[in-house]
Amino acid sequence: AQEMNIGLLGFGTVGTGVLQIIRDHQDKLQHQLGCSIKVKKVLVSNLHKEREIKIDDDQLTLNADDILNDPSIVAVIEVMGGIEDARRYIRQALENNKNVITANKDLMAIHGSELLELANKQGCDLFYEASVAGGIPILRALVEGLASDRISKMIGIVNGTTNYILTKMSKEGRGYEEALQEAQALGYAEADPTADVEGIDAARKISILGTLGFSMNLDLDDVSIRGITEVTREDLAFCEQLGYTMKLVGIANRFNDKVEVSVQPTLVPHEHPLASVDDEYNAVYVYGDAVGETMFYGPGAGKLPTATAVVSDLVAVLKNNRLGVNGNSVILPQFEKKLKDPDD
Ligand code: NDP
Ligand code: HSE
Repeated sequence: AQEMNIGLLGFGTVGTGVLQIIRDHQDKLQHQLGCSIKVKKVLVSNLHKEREIKIDDDQLTLNADDILNDPSIVAVIEVMGGIEDARRYIRQALENNKNVITANKDLMAIHGSELLELANKQGCDLFYEASVAGGIPILRALVEGLASDRISKMIGIVNGTTNYILTKMSKEGRGYEEALQEAQALGYAEADPTADVEGIDAARKISILGTLGFSMNLDLDDVSIRGITEVTREDLAFCEQLGYTMKLVGIANRFNDKVEVSVQPTLVPHEHPLASVDDEYNAVYVYGDAVGETMFYGPGAGKLPTATAVVSDLVAVLKNNRLGVNGNSVILPQFEKKLKDPDD
């Protein structure tokens, strides 16, 4: 059968999950695509690290050009994180007419419109479903499933690490540091967890949701942000006694043509569905003028849920690639230009 070569930038929590899904689900992927997927090269920063999943030594490289300049590679998956190297590599991949999938919300929240514009110019796909709410296909829901509606509000628990910490502190009496270390060991936290606990990761995600949901380019500087670093076990116990659960919540609200976006620890009444979203799970409430209330729920972080979103994006990209491949095209629209300035 025909083979599609892809390259992986990064082979940590998400990258190993991507390879595992491609290997374990190869039959289903082959059935959908009419060809098999071959991970030709994987970029890492340390060739001698012990790897959780077996890979041939000659598949690993320290040189991104081995992937980005290889004409036989049709799609590049960026799961290395960080901003500057990732941005440079994605630009180079697009300039070399490769489709790109990324899980990098840090990058997409800041440079998303620049990269999508380049992808558009090159006629390539740049998909980033995994960047928000891990395994929940929320970006597709906003740009495809709810495309006809006017979305007025989104409320989300969109950071798995902080939700895990708050759950363990409030329901199992764990200390903050202990719960954070568990979230790190489980692969939910960022390499540097500061962005998680200070609410910055959630702010990046809610700004991506707002940008797609409201068809506006929202700037991260417009998001008011408070994290969970000052929350104590006593605060959480007190809230529970009063009938509330504390959650780190991102809110994006549109009033006429003005938008307000924020992230903060929030008291959620016990009877509200968001109160029972525990551990690393995420949920996004979306209010559309026509559809009314909808809620999307699922695992928001971790190896296989996140890798599922990445590989599903890969399937969409490879179907679009039309190299003799069967299947329907699924194209995520690019960011629209800002429709209205929130301050106008
Ligand atoms: P990890 O830290 O586990 O893995 C990062 C990988 O990238 C490692 O293999 C590392 O190499 C490699 N790498 C990092 N920087 C470089 C560089 N400059 N040059 C070459 N290789 C490099 O990260 P995760 O897998 O957790 O996250 C990856 C991305 O996915 C991030 O953008 C993150 O925000 C996003 N994400 C993560 C989720 C999760 O649950 N973990 C969920 C959703 C998105 P080496 O192995 O040699 O050290
Ligand atoms: N660190 C992130 C989280 C990973 O905890 O939600 C998923 O984006």
